[in-house]
Amino acid sequence: MRTEVIIQEENRIDNTSLTRAGDIIRRGGLVAFPTETVYGLGGDGLNPESSRKIYEAKGRPSDNPLIIHICRMEDLYSIVKEVPESAKKLAEAFWPGPLTMILPKADCVPKETTGGLDTVAVRMPSHKVALAFIKEAGGFVAAPSANLSGKPSPTLAKYVVEDMDGRIDMIIDGGDIAIGLESTIVDLTGEVPMILRPGYITLEMLQDVLGEVTCDPTLLDGTCTDRPKAPGMRYRHYAPKGDMLIVEGSSDAVVSAINKMVAESKAQGLKTGVIATAENAEKYDADVVKIVGSRQEATAVAASLYRILREFDDEETDAIYSESFATDGIGQAIMNRLLKAAGHKYKNLWEDA
Ligand code: TXA
Ligand code: MG
Repeated sequence: MRTEVIIQEENRIDNTSLTRAGDIIRRGGLVAFPTETVYGLGGDGLNPESSRKIYEAKGRPSDNPLIIHICRMEDLYSIVKEVPESAKKLAEAFWPGPLTMILPKADCVPKETTGGLDTVAVRMPSHKVALAFIKEAGGFVAAPSANLSGKPSPTLAKYVVEDMDGRIDMIIDGGDIAIGLESTIVDLTGEVPMILRPGYITLEMLQDVLGEVTCDPTLLDGTCTDRPKAPGMRYRHYAPKGDMLIVEGSSDAVVSAINKMVAESKAQGLKTGVIATAENAEKYDADVVKIVGSRQEATAVAASLYRILREFDDEETDAIYSESFATDGIGQAIMNRLLKAAGHKYKNLWEDA
């Protein structure tokens, strides 16, 4: 299959080519598109054949449900059984934006889209190209992140091309992505709303709107043996090809512990890499040192994390060591993704001390 790439800027949308992109979806094809979180791989969310194609293009197990992206609040009512007060409040506060809600699905939503579940994940993104594209596509675009299964979600169009060229009909290049981590997922089907995947919309922000909100206990704790409630969080994910270890402790202790392990890895003939904060980057002796951002600016760390994980693959780094981050605010999402990338390999120097 030949994959066409078109360019769309948020402040200069070309409606003719977006209409063409929308037609591809209406006819059952696949189009990758930018959102404010990561690039999505879109198909018609109400067409079971389209969802089957998405799983095939991604190489993803078909029991891992997709998020349906909408562009108008009224469209929520046609794909869920009912819209509870909590969903109305969250939509009012955070839509369009990086929040996905889980609700009981209406009959028109095929089980192929929901991975066999009776619930459906819904999100209204804020990226202007995404909103215009969803409208042209008929209003209900099922989309996982536009990476091959197991790779970090793409935050640049070139990574979408790398993973999806020849597998889908079109890629809409919308430039860089603002947030860089996938949306927060909140399950509204239980008694108390529960975060299934942390993101830019934090626990504190949800609590401000709803009062009591809990977190799936498996999110940060690698030793927790419960099954994560979002099926996608059960798979090894976001993983670079190299072996990765996260090191937590005082700034100086982390630098010297990482440098010691770097030396040992080098002695074994391995190519070494470090994910460093701007504050510490110059202190590392690794072959490849990547600055993920300043410790003072967690949103910048979130925005560059996936790009950096991909770059380590490009440079064929064998052993990757990462600094650790505070888990408040968006830090919870950063550490959740880092821990998954590292397969939960984590060294706590505070405990050793
Ligand atoms: O920011 C995002 O959410 C991006 C952009 C493209 O919108 N999309 C995204 O989709 O990250 P994906 O498919 O990579 O992740 C969707 C997650 C998976 O972990 C999946 O298991 C979970 O949402 N999910 C979907 N439907 C669900 C449901 N009904 N119940 C529980 N978890 C669900
Ligand atoms: Mg994904």
